[in-house]
Amino acid sequence: MNVPIPFLDLSLADQELKTALERKFSEMLSKGIFSGGEEVELFAKNFGNFLGTEALVSPCSNGTDALEIALRALEIGNGDEVIVPALTWVSTAEAVKLVGAKPVFIDTDPSGLMDLNLLDKVSPNTKAVIPVHLYGKMVEMKHLIDWARPKGIKVIEDNAQGFGAIQDGKSAGCWGDVGCFSFYPTKNLGALGEAGALSTSDKDLSIKINMLINHGQPVRDQHEIVGRNARIDSIQAGFLNIKLEYFKKWQEKRKYLAAIYLDHLSETGDLILPYSILDSDHNAHLFVIQTAFRSELKHHLQQKGIQTSIHYPTILPKMVPYHSNDRFPNAEKLASSILSLPLNPFMTKNEVLKVIYEVKLFYGKTS
Ligand SMILES: Cc1ncc(COP(=O)(O)O)c(C=O)c1O
Repeated sequence: MNVPIPFLDLSLADQELKTALERKFSEMLSKGIFSGGEEVELFAKNFGNFLGTEALVSPCSNGTDALEIALRALEIGNGDEVIVPALTWVSTAEAVKLVGAKPVFIDTDPSGLMDLNLLDKVSPNTKAVIPVHLYGKMVEMKHLIDWARPKGIKVIEDNAQGFGAIQDGKSAGCWGDVGCFSFYPTKNLGALGEAGALSTSDKDLSIKINMLINHGQPVRDQHEIVGRNARIDSIQAGFLNIKLEYFKKWQEKRKYLAAIYLDHLSETGDLILPYSILDSDHNAHLFVIQTAFRSELKHHLQQKGIQTSIHYPTILPKMVPYHSNDRFPNAEKLASSILSLPLNPFMTKNEVLKVIYEVKLFYGKTS
């Protein structure tokens, strides 16, 4: 009988963590502070320390709101254009639309990252570019910043998937004018609900971001700009403070398991394996393979109880709200050939070996 291997089962977190989270919940219940307060402040500080730069961190409601607030803080809106990769989670373009600007899509490279050779889609209306550190792999940030700065184009990093990755000694999310993070439960650092954050090294921008998150108030009852309620739940900040302590250990486990996949799956059938997943500028968020036999392989694994996922099956310019007639050959090819194998810190080595065995079996190899 096949023992099922889920793509990610968050209930498998170890008992020590569960106990610490329960303790935190009960502590917060006793204190009775559920909005703002010391857990939120502590999380901003802890998270900033983790980023290891002069990052000024503003915790917020979720990653999508973080992107929207970053755009608003940089005064991007009606009539402006923002460059966005064709293959990403919908939020990247959704946030651009929400502020009234126009997402201008560019193709990805063959690995799924925004193709920096195609940045010439720039127009006089281009106000920002949103690189996405897709699957946890960072875009070449120095290259992008060197291109954007002289043109006055703002860089907003969509780092929903890349927390923990470091390029040339600098953390993902700390390269651009603003970095946006998601703590959606399935992320490498996930809350027990919805949460996100923004980071910037610009003090004035940080003040504005904090105001936008909290009804445009620098202090209570003083509304200086039109803002939102995009505050983080205090309880999520409390949970994140606990989970941040486990993050390094989980990252090591991810890399360890990713190395096993790489070792065993190299030169298997037509598989293309994730590029540089063991490097420091990849946080091993997802293990994404490419194959022309995606649906057959997915089906085979499913039959064996192994759950896989697709990130993502449709490129944004093919969706009704974001429609574009342009062609995006790399992104289109990826959307039809990518398959994410299970990779998370709650998996065992044997489970990874079982996935490998079944993938090899699919390609007619048993050793
Ligand atoms: C690339 C990317 N951008 C933005 C988001 C939005 O984050 P959230 O789900 O917290 O709104 C996500 C997360 O799902 C994401 O993967």
